Amino acid sequence: PRYARILGTGSYLPPKRLSNADLVEQLAKDGIETSDEWIVERTGIRARHFADAGVTASDLALPAAQAALAAAGVDASEIDLIIVATSTPDMIFPSTACLLQAKLGVAGAAAFDVQAVCSGFVYALTVADSMIRTGAASKALVIGAEVFSRILDFKDRTTCVLFGDGAGAVVLGASEVPGILACELHADGSHAGILCVPGTVVGGKVLGDPLLKMDGQAVFKLAVGVLEKVARGVLEKAGRQASDVDWLIPHQANIRIMHSTTKKLKLPLDKLIVTVDQHGNTSAASIPLALDAAVRAGKIKAGETVMLEGVGGGFTWGAVLLDF
Ligand code: ACO
Repeated sequence: PRYARILGTGSYLPPKRLSNADLVEQLAKDGIETSDEWIVERTGIRARHFADAGVTASDLALPAAQAALAAAGVDASEIDLIIVATSTPDMIFPSTACLLQAKLGVAGAAAFDVQAVCSGFVYALTVADSMIRTGAASKALVIGAEVFSRILDFKDRTTCVLFGDGAGAVVLGASEVPGILACELHADGSHAGILCVPGTVVGGKVLGDPLLKMDGQAVFKLAVGVLEKVARGVLEKAGRQASDVDWLIPHQANIRIMHSTTKKLKLPLDKLIVTVDQHGNTSAASIPLALDAAVRAGKIKAGETVMLEGVGGGFTWGAVLLDF
């Protein structure tokens, strides 16, 4: 049998870091009131990184991809598949993956974007796993890269305090040993309205609202239910128990949702990887950013079992279970 295995991880955060206190001060200039206490208590977020004006998703993806390639000991020219998960692409087209490919200085590999908002990375990883297992690809670069600061409404305190920018990457390679054990993806488009950027571009003009809108409580309720169900789904497919999971890396949106998922799976909280406190919600980048942080901190070691779980706009959700 042919499996897909993670050969290396990498990530990148833009240098501008705003603590809650920095953001509170910035918002106060526009008469928007919030506080460190509110943000920490409701979300667990203490800081986020914002890209400077003009910096794009492919700019953030490039150093993340280079770090993953270096960790894997793979040259960019060996990659035959590039998938970028993003909801904040550089352009309407070409895809951010093609723009990244050019920045990597290579050509020829298949390259395309996947758009599943905060579930984007688990969607992209599932597609890459399928293509590697069928022989359609043998070495894949899978990246989550977002510049969410571009689509935030800084007059809406219920959303602008939650998100950040960044990128995370993995190199996947074909292997005789797993690797990725099981994947499961879902969507329910009837909930599109609870988390969306409803605007678009028509005839050279922005039509509708191009900024993020979220019904936080509706998202919260849906998220806790689907995350438990999909985690049990991949465990069953892989013939594993929740107690076999060494590390849980859920989408980093809100510490309360993450704790609730960990408890529902009866896992101790020290198996939960947390970066939401330092990164905020970086949408499709949050899972690979957290994965890379945990690998580089020496937490996740070769052979350990890792559960990745995404949930977000669409409504979309999914999970990937793997042996690292
Ligand atoms: N600072 C201070 N007060 C605030 C702020 C703020 N930044 N934002 C809202 N408030 C106030 C509200 O106005 C409200 O005041 P009121 O009671 O006087 O009306 C009060 O705080 C409580 O607001 P709620 O919306 O009830 O707060 P809640 O406890 O639900 O927390 C939150 C809101 C953090 C958004 C939560 O609902 C949540 O995390 N939801 C899930 C979000 C999520 O996971 N999103 C990402 C999905 S990923 C993707 O695809 C992008």
